[in-house]
Amino acid sequence: MPTNALLKIDDKEISYPVITGSEGEKAIDARNLRKDTGYLFYDQGYGNTGSCESCITYLDGDNGILRHRGYPIEQLAEQSEFVETAYLVIYGELPSPEQRKRFGTMLRENAAIDTQMMRIFEGFPRGAPPMGMLTSIVSSLAAYYPHLATNNFEKDLENFDLTAAMAISKIRTIVAGIYRYRHGLPFNYPKDVPFCDNFLHLMFSEPYKEYAAIPEVTRALNLILLLHADHEQNCSTSTVRMVGSSGANLFTSLAAGICALSGPLHGGANTAVMQMLQAIHDEGDDGTRFIAAAKSGSKANRLMGFGHAVYRNYDPRARIIGHACDVVLNKLGKTDPLLDIAKRLEHSALNDDYFLSRKLYPNVDFYSGIIMRALGIPTELFTTMFAIGRSPGWIANWKEVASNPKGRIYRPRQVYVGPVKRDYVLIGKRG
Ligand code: SDX
Repeated sequence: MPTNALLKIDDKEISYPVITGSEGEKAIDARNLRKDTGYLFYDQGYGNTGSCESCITYLDGDNGILRHRGYPIEQLAEQSEFVETAYLVIYGELPSPEQRKRFGTMLRENAAIDTQMMRIFEGFPRGAPPMGMLTSIVSSLAAYYPHLATNNFEKDLENFDLTAAMAISKIRTIVAGIYRYRHGLPFNYPKDVPFCDNFLHLMFSEPYKEYAAIPEVTRALNLILLLHADHEQNCSTSTVRMVGSSGANLFTSLAAGICALSGPLHGGANTAVMQMLQAIHDEGDDGTRFIAAAKSGSKANRLMGFGHAVYRNYDPRARIIGHACDVVLNKLGKTDPLLDIAKRLEHSALNDDYFLSRKLYPNVDFYSGIIMRALGIPTELFTTMFAIGRSPGWIANWKEVASNPKGRIYRPRQVYVGPVKRDYVLIGKRG
């Protein structure tokens, strides 16, 4: 087992310690590289760089392994539910019955949106993008609850349990509020019911008719949210850590994570997948045109829901959701032509050397939209659903940053490739 890495550079030989993670992952501790050698490692996009040590999620992209605090995602998907997994991700252990009850109570007690905060919705055009609204309204939580958002880690950690429960619960309620507002519907108020039932009530109850969720629907929603709970140092989670490392409070750091999630290469992909499948359906195409375009190599034509920055194997979440699609649609007595198209597309791509040679497989976003659509959730809300699901992971990562006594502000370096020194010349005298 190597304990050191030897770097030979210029006329120096310097040894750096090797860190070995609990799953045997190895990292060269290069924190003194620049001081020792004046050199940087250049790793565009950080694909080969560990920004932190974390205890939350283990991801083996080559073998398609995903575990939260040691529990395989397949077992959690089969036996747990979103709120319990959220507790596990945040606190590190599955909750006892008393802990689960207390967490659920805190979620229910903090589900409502402050009346004054409701007025923020009115500041948006009806057709405003949901993720833009979610970012702004979640960010405003720091203004409405300044005692929980002091930007002082010690003080903010004192109230962590309340702030965490409030964040998860209110993000859920805000998403439903965005739906109601965008469709010109009156807001619903939370009820004293389980998390997912409350979401469906907040979304779909009408003044004259309460929404009554059937068990299959709440089970499917629990599964979708659970499968999004955390995913190592993805773009949005790293953003939460980056912003949190400056001392920023949890609400503000979460708002930054929501911004990062909105991009089509990240959380926006689930929406893009449905738009792609709908376009194939509307054109009567069998997918070959899209696959041909995807192979052109341009980022604009990528097969959405395919490929991953870490997985070089099937995303285990995609496998679980893919299987669940048929079950959920059958139980709801529904069919969806887009599911058949998705399956055909997957089959074609997985028999095409372009995708196989690049190890491009379906990711979590490829099938998730099919289930959300079956639950009646409109496509424009899909990425906000991802944000609800990911909130426990973001919160857990922020807590690791905030409670790390040796933590430092995240401050990557760069390789400067711009103009070298030159003198200022007044306008009119420039050549
Ligand atoms: C999520 O990181 C996470 O954990 C994220 C996430 C989470 O839970 O937080 O898992 C959630 O964001 C899933 C990914 C959702 N995005 C998409 O589905 C968008 C489509 N996929 C991609 O754009 C792409 O695969 C990425 C962004 C996901 C990963 O990009 P990488 O790792 O930077 O891959 P790359 O650009 O280096 O691609 C390698 C090759 C390139 O071809 P060559 O230059 O070698 O010829 O594969 C090609 C790419 O052009 N490629 C694709 C492709 N994805 C990569 N070609 C066609 N279709 C695709 N989807």
